[in-house]
Amino acid sequence: MSLALWRRVEHGFDAVFGAPLNPLRHLGALGFLSFWLLAASGIYLYAVLDTSVAGAYRSIVDLSQQQPWLGGLLRSLHRYAADAFVILMALHLLREWLHGHYRGVRRFSWLTGVPPVALVFASAIGGIWLHWDRLAQYSAVATAEWFDALPLLAAPLARNFLSDGAVSDRLFSLFVFVHLGVPLLLLFALWFHIQRLTRAAVWPPRPVGLGLFGTLLLLAIVAPVSSHAPADLATVPQALRLDWLLLFIHPLAEAASPAVAWALVGGAFLTLFALPFLRQPARAPVAVVDPANCNGCRRCFADCPFAAITMVPHPNQKIGKQMAVVDADLCASCGICAGACPSSTPFRSVVELVTGIDMPSAPIGALRQRMQRGLAALQAARPIVVFGCDHGAAVAPLAAPDVAAFSLVCTGQLPPSFVEYALRDGAAGVLVSGCRPGGCEFRLGTRWTEERLLGLREPHLRAEVPRERLEVAWADPGEDLTLQRALERLRERVRCAHDGVGPKPKASHA
Ligand code: HEM
Ligand code: SF4
Ligand code: SF4
Repeated sequence: MSLALWRRVEHGFDAVFGAPLNPLRHLGALGFLSFWLLAASGIYLYAVLDTSVAGAYRSIVDLSQQQPWLGGLLRSLHRYAADAFVILMALHLLREWLHGHYRGVRRFSWLTGVPPVALVFASAIGGIWLHWDRLAQYSAVATAEWFDALPLLAAPLARNFLSDGAVSDRLFSLFVFVHLGVPLLLLFALWFHIQRLTRAAVWPPRPVGLGLFGTLLLLAIVAPVSSHAPADLATVPQALRLDWLLLFIHPLAEAASPAVAWALVGGAFLTLFALPFLRQPARAPVAVVDPANCNGCRRCFADCPFAAITMVPHPNQKIGKQMAVVDADLCASCGICAGACPSSTPFRSVVELVTGIDMPSAPIGALRQRMQRGLAALQAARPIVVFGCDHGAAVAPLAAPDVAAFSLVCTGQLPPSFVEYALRDGAAGVLVSGCRPGGCEFRLGTRWTEERLLGLREPHLRAEVPRERLEVAWADPGEDLTLQRALERLRERVRCAHDGVGPKPKASHA
C-alpha cells in the first residue's frame, strides 16, 4: 500500500462522509471511543460474572439467555468493540506509517504507540478465556503452548490445562486479573501516547462516534455473540467459531510452529521500534523567538500543535509580562506559530516586518518581500496571489502571467493579514490553499487557517477585507484540478467585480 493509494481511499470516503466527518481521518479518536465502549460494557459484564471456574460459563450463558436485551447485547457489543479496536488500531498505524510519522518529533508518538498493540491483544485474549467455553479452552491451551516454546519457565505452562481439576479458582482469578489489569495499563500507555500533542483528538466528532456505536450495536443485534459448549479439558475442541482478529496468533502458531510465530511477532515489534531510528531526515531549523517583538500574548503557545512552546517571564517587563520559548527537541518546524503571532499585523509603523516568533528557513518578512516583488513583476490588469503549502496540492503550477504563487511550510504559517497585504500591494484577489480538513501534515494548520480567515480565531482577517476577493480551497497532493478550478472561480469573481457585471458573487471556501 502506498500513500497515494491510501489518499485515494481517503478521498473516496471524503466523497461519502465529507472530509470533516470521514472516519479514516479520526482513527485514533475512534480507537479511544472503542476503549470507552469496552470499559462501559465491561463494567456491567464484570458485575454479573461469576469469577470461579465452575460458575463463569453459566453466568455468561445466563446473561445472554435471561437478559438478551441488556446483558446479551452488552456482551456482543463488548466483543465487537474489541474487534473494532484492533481494526482501528491497525488502520491508524498504517496511516501514520504511510505518512512517515515515525520520523523527527513524531518519534515519541510512534514509540509510545507500539506497546499498546501488545496490550490490546493481551487483554482481548484474556477476555476470551473468561467465558471458559471450548473457545476459551482452545485459546488458553494454545497460549500456554506458545509461551512454552520460550526457554523462560522451569515448568511448562500447559500442564495447568491437563485436566479440569488442574484449572483452579486461583488460576481463573489470574485470568480475571489479566483482563482487568492490562486495560488499565493500556489506558495509561494511551495517555502517554498523546502527551506530546496539543489538543490530541481523543473524541471523534459526534456523528462519527455515533456511527461507530450504531454499527457495533447493529452487529450485536444481527449477529449476537454466543458461547461454545463448556470447556472440557478431557476433549480437544473441534469446529470452533474463531474470532480471527483477536485470536489469529493461535492458528498461526499451529500452522507454522510456535517458534516461527514468536519470530514473526518479535520481528514485527522490533521493526516498529527500530523504524524511528532508521533513515532520519536532516532536521529543518526550528522556530526562533525574538524577545524584542514578543509581548507574551500566548497565541503561538495556544496554536503550536506539538506543545513545543512554553511561556516564561519576559526579560524586559516593559515589552510584556511573559515571553514564548521554543523547545527545539519538540519543534516540528511547521511555522504555525509564526502565522499566529500578532506582530505580523499590517498596522505596525516599522519598515521591516519582524514577527515575535519566526522560521529562520522561511521568515515572514522575506515572504512579504517576495510577494511584493512577485506582484510587481506581474503585467496583468487583475493580478492574483496564491498562498499554498508544501504538503498540500502544489501551487507552483498555478503561476501564470496574472498569478504569483507562494508555497509555505504549512498553510498555518500564513498570518491572515497577508491577504490584506496582498490586496494593498495591488492584488485583485487572493487564493489560500492547504491540505484537506483532517489531512494537515502538522495536524492543526488547516483548521487554524480556516478559523483565522473566518474571524473565529486570533489573529483574524479584518472584517473590512472584501471577502469576494478571497478564495479558500483545501486540496491534498495531486489535486491540482481542485486548485485550478478555485483559481478560475476567483478570476471570474474579480473580473465581474472589476467590470461591474452580474450579481455580486460571494467568497467561497472549497
Ligand atoms: C492502541 C491504539 C491507539 C490509539 C487509541 C491511538 C490514538 C491516537 C490519538 C488520539 C492520536 C492523536 C491524533 C491527533 O490529534 O492528531 C494519536 C497520534 C499518533 N499515533 Fe496513535 N493511537 C494508537 C496506537 C498507535 C500505534 C500502534 C502507532 C504506531 C506505532 C501510533 C502512532 C501515532 C502517531 C505517530 C501519532 C502522531 C500523529 C501526528 O503527530 O500527526 N498510534 N494516536
Ligand atoms: S514551528 Fe510548529 S512545532 Fe515549532 S514551535 Fe512553531 S508551531 Fe510549534
Ligand atoms: S504569538 Fe508572538 S507575541 Fe504572542 S507570545 Fe508568541 S511570539 Fe510572543
